[in-house]
Amino acid sequence: VKKNFVLKGNVCYSASRTELKIIEKGFVVSENGISKGAFETLPAQYNDFEVIDYGDNLIIPGLTDLHVHAPQFSFRGLGMDMELLDWLNTYTFPEEAKYKDMEYAKNSYAEFLKALNNSPNTRSVIFATAHVEPTLLLMDELEKIGQVSMVGKVNMDRNSHSDLQEKSAEFSASETRRWLDLTAEKNYENIYPILTPRFIPSCTDELMHKLKEIETDYKIPLQSHLSENQGEIAWVKELVPNSVNYGDAYDKFGLFGQDSPTIMAHCVWSDDTEKALMKKNNVFVAHCPQSNINLASGIAPIRDFLNKNIPVGLGSDIAGGVHMSIFRAMVDAISVSKLYWRLVDSDCKPLTVEEAFYLGTIGGGKFFGNVGSFEDGYEFDAVILDDSKILPGRNDFSVTDRLARCIYLAADDTIHAKYIRGKEVNMI
Ligand code: GUN
Ligand code: FE
Repeated sequence: VKKNFVLKGNVCYSASRTELKIIEKGFVVSENGISKGAFETLPAQYNDFEVIDYGDNLIIPGLTDLHVHAPQFSFRGLGMDMELLDWLNTYTFPEEAKYKDMEYAKNSYAEFLKALNNSPNTRSVIFATAHVEPTLLLMDELEKIGQVSMVGKVNMDRNSHSDLQEKSAEFSASETRRWLDLTAEKNYENIYPILTPRFIPSCTDELMHKLKEIETDYKIPLQSHLSENQGEIAWVKELVPNSVNYGDAYDKFGLFGQDSPTIMAHCVWSDDTEKALMKKNNVFVAHCPQSNINLASGIAPIRDFLNKNIPVGLGSDIAGGVHMSIFRAMVDAISVSKLYWRLVDSDCKPLTVEEAFYLGTIGGGKFFGNVGSFEDGYEFDAVILDDSKILPGRNDFSVTDRLARCIYLAADDTIHAKYIRGKEVNMI
């Protein structure tokens, strides 16, 4: 049973995809880790709950990072004048290979965890590496800091470096089962496994069939990459010649959201048939705009995904992206949507700040259930923003203005406190 409490401050959350709800000097109630709602005046039934008064600070729901590579934090910023496949071969695979060494993994993951802990993100969907024990170490450490996370041991049995790639489909599958069995023994409170075939070029047909059996046996969600880069897409077409598009190359193995909740990162070049398949199977888009800029992948058609009611959340995609904060992903999502509208398709109106805030809170949070809002019944994740440092002696900004500035400046030193599932996080 968790402590019950009330937070007081300027409450901001999404009333809908396009509108904010702001309650100045309002209250949010946490009962046993669940929000009981946001109020202008505190209902009498909560009078005996402890009230924590955050004064003039902003109180927002926690942010969800739908796509982040924990082992890539250690080289972010490198290789940023390459495209995807060269960048993977030159920087990413050699770095991930180093995580086989537990000492290296422990030290490097410590840096990732510190940054995550001090960020406004409260939920993360994470790629680890292909190694079982280092992945369990990451899961143990995430549990310690209370970050609710889905973590994947990566599957990859072709087209990588011999020191990272798994030696066969059989080995990759049996290691995945071993990892899932060890994970179950841990009885984590906040950490969940997610099946993680890296992407089609990394996984043989034989491995994909075995992963489908694992998905059926263990009933877990799945994450991967989709239609990120044009060279990659052409390669997928060669590797799975009878596929009509990249999504179909997953679908052929039953691994495109048919039976399990599924996240696909990027979806920059998805065409209408791929989008229709995503819609049919409720596949989530992890929109990673900063990565798409850095690796010159392109601009994902987010307005169109939203119009088609395909679920969308935001991802940092470290180290394609260099910034961990989902505030930064909100800003980049808005920025690239403006270029798309101006340069590509004048029917696709740019995202608004309200919409980007929705995507970074409820949009991605939905993958975890009722997450990303203070409405009654949502899991209680909250971030307290002290924006006094970025409000140089001024009192003419509205709460809405102040939230926009917190988003745009994306400064981690405005993060004053953080609650996840009704527990205060120890900021390091
Ligand atoms: N596709 C396959 N692996 C990766 C990765 O590590 N990062 C990105 N951005 N795309 C990928
Ligand atoms: Fe990625």
